[in-house]
Amino acid sequence: MNIDYSQLIPNNVDLAGDRTLQRALERWQPAFLGWWNDTGPIDSTDLQVYLRTAISVDRDGWANFGYVRMPEYRWGIFLVPGDEDRKIHFGDHMGQPAWQEVPGEYRSTLRRIIVTQGDTEPASVEQQRLLGKTAPSLYDMRNLFQVNVEEGRHLWAMVYLLHRYFGKDGREEAEYLLERRSGDTNNPRILTAFNEQTRHWLAFFMFAFFTDRDGKFQLSSLAESAFDPLSRTCRFMLTEEAHHMFVGESGVARTIQRTCEVMKERGLTDPAEGRQHGVIDLNTLQKFVNFHCSVTLDLFGSEVSSNAATYYTTGLKGRYEEGKRPDDHRLSSDEYLVLDMENGKIVEKRFPALTALNARLRDDYIEEIQAGLNRWNRIPEQMGIPFRFKLPHVAFHRKIGNFAGTFANPNGELMSEAEWNQRRDEWLPSESDHKYIESLMGQVLEPGKFANWIAPPARGINGRPIDFEYVRFN
Ligand SMILES: [Fe+2]
Ligand SMILES: [Fe+2]
Repeated sequence: MNIDYSQLIPNNVDLAGDRTLQRALERWQPAFLGWWNDTGPIDSTDLQVYLRTAISVDRDGWANFGYVRMPEYRWGIFLVPGDEDRKIHFGDHMGQPAWQEVPGEYRSTLRRIIVTQGDTEPASVEQQRLLGKTAPSLYDMRNLFQVNVEEGRHLWAMVYLLHRYFGKDGREEAEYLLERRSGDTNNPRILTAFNEQTRHWLAFFMFAFFTDRDGKFQLSSLAESAFDPLSRTCRFMLTEEAHHMFVGESGVARTIQRTCEVMKERGLTDPAEGRQHGVIDLNTLQKFVNFHCSVTLDLFGSEVSSNAATYYTTGLKGRYEEGKRPDDHRLSSDEYLVLDMENGKIVEKRFPALTALNARLRDDYIEEIQAGLNRWNRIPEQMGIPFRFKLPHVAFHRKIGNFAGTFANPNGELMSEAEWNQRRDEWLPSESDHKYIESLMGQVLEPGKFANWIAPPARGINGRPIDFEYVRFN
């Protein structure tokens, strides 16, 4: 399954064998490049960035590293190899052959799923447009740009599906994907979390840890889909997504590391201290955990949802790791426990497992981010600092689902709206917290040097040293 780079659009789907499709995508390509130039990383056209490019979709050795000017990055269409015998492995169609074309009755639902996923990809590039200007090192700048070009490629992945399988409507949707803009009042991106600003690198790292991981869970459940081309493209996207989550998790870890080092050196014991020494205090970091976690939980949708049940029974979207679960894969008589509000209290309630699929995917997600927090917590632990990060309660700061409109603190204790508003800044980043972090952000361009607020990584990219020239400016 090597990728053909001799084509205008690199691909492993034999694009040359379908001239109509090829021409349509070749018409979309300049519009994509126009979008990249308008909304991609600012002032980055001439930079040479040490990027990886996919050369094969095999498990090992799919990446090639080298200096690339980003507008010349070879965005293309890469699917993992098809399995002719693949069968649908959950829902009402279980046991039937996976679909190679879109069944008419699911056409509009599948199109909506693909458009919603596709819309998040360019949105995050737009949100991160200015960050290169304040990169804390060349290593970090390179990682940001790697994430950006790959989100651009994820857009290609969804646009290929729209063009290839959805005819005229699909081509129109592909154009709209380039027209919406993150944060635009008239034509915003579809999901709220993708219209929030990414004001600084801490927000970027938190976003890559929390929100890219939501992407992983959504892609994982689409990788189970009965619609085989969607499954195959999502499986390849997941290999790219792993790096984005690494960038987020290690970026936050290095920030914690640096703060703890300064606390140790200066003999600080209060987690609110550190600002006078130019690092981000642990209490402020916890507020960013609270914010990014809660807005990302909203992306899973309502805990109890008849749409989620329909997506599952019709085979459009499976559970996380559906294939590995030892049950009947129909869930018609199973139940699932979900937290809900009842008479002003948070209670645990049983729901049919089918309608509770969003809650279940969210719970699988929480298990993974908790494991990430446990890894972060080893840093203060090893340095003898008693502070530990905690995930906020699922009822905290929610706009969607069972806890929308309730007022709970990060421990899940309910209170009045007035009290919540009064205490908000104890739990969520305030304007002055953002301003403080922005004040730390200054571009560091000398290879091997890092801004004061963040520790260097343990190792470089692709076996290169940490002081490697990851970005060249000529
Ligand atoms: Fe993505
Ligand atoms: Fe991503």
